[in-house]
Amino acid sequence: MKTLIVYASKHGCAKNAAEKLAQAFGPDTKLSDVRNITRIDLENFDRIVIGGSIHAGRIQGKIKSFVQRNIDFLLQKQLGIYICHMEDGDGAMKELSDNFPKQLLEHATAKGLFGGEFNLAKMNFIEKFMIKKVAHVTESVSKIKEDNINEFIKTMKD
Ligand SMILES: Cc1cc2nc3c(=O)[nH]c(=O)nc-3n(C[C@H](O)[C@H](O)[C@H](O)COP(=O)(O)O)c2cc1C
Repeated sequence: MKTLIVYASKHGCAKNAAEKLAQAFGPDTKLSDVRNITRIDLENFDRIVIGGSIHAGRIQGKIKSFVQRNIDFLLQKQLGIYICHMEDGDGAMKELSDNFPKQLLEHATAKGLFGGEFNLAKMNFIEKFMIKKVAHVTESVSKIKEDNINEFIKTMKD
C-alpha cells in the first residue's frame, strides 16, 4: 500500500516517530517534512499519516494549512493522525481535538498520542525559559509512548 507520511517537528520527536512509522509501513512509503512539500500528488497514495508536535497548545501552522488545503482528499484516504506532546490524559486528547478538524478526526483510522520529550540541549533560551516557568522542568526528560506508536502502526496495518 502506497503511504505518505507528512510531519512537522521542532526538536526531532515527531520526526523520529515519522521515521519509525515509515520503517513499519515498508518501502512503498514516502516521508515528507511538511516544509518541503510544494506540489505533491495525494492521488498517488492510498494511506496518509499526518503528524506534528504541540508547542504552547498548538500544532505547527504548516500542518494546519496542509490539512486545510487538502481536506477533501484526506477524507477519501485511509488516514492516521498523531501528535507529540507532554500533556497527559484528557489534556493530550484535547490538544489533538483542538488542532485537527472534527470531521478529519472522525474519519481517521488511527489517532496517536505519542507522548514527547523535553530536550534542553535542543531548545533556545526562550523555550528553556518557558518550559522552566510553565512545566517546572530543569532537565531533559522523555515520555515517549512506544506502546501507543506500536498500537497506531497495528491499527493502520490491520
Ligand atoms: C516551548 C515549548 C512549549 C511546549 N508546549 C507544549 C504544550 O502546550 N502542550 C504539550 O503537550 N506539550 C508542549 N511541549 C512539549 C512538546 O510537545 C514536546 O517537547 C515534543 O516532544 C516536541 O516534539 P518535536 O521535537 O517534534 O517538536 C512544549 C515544548 C516546548 C519546548
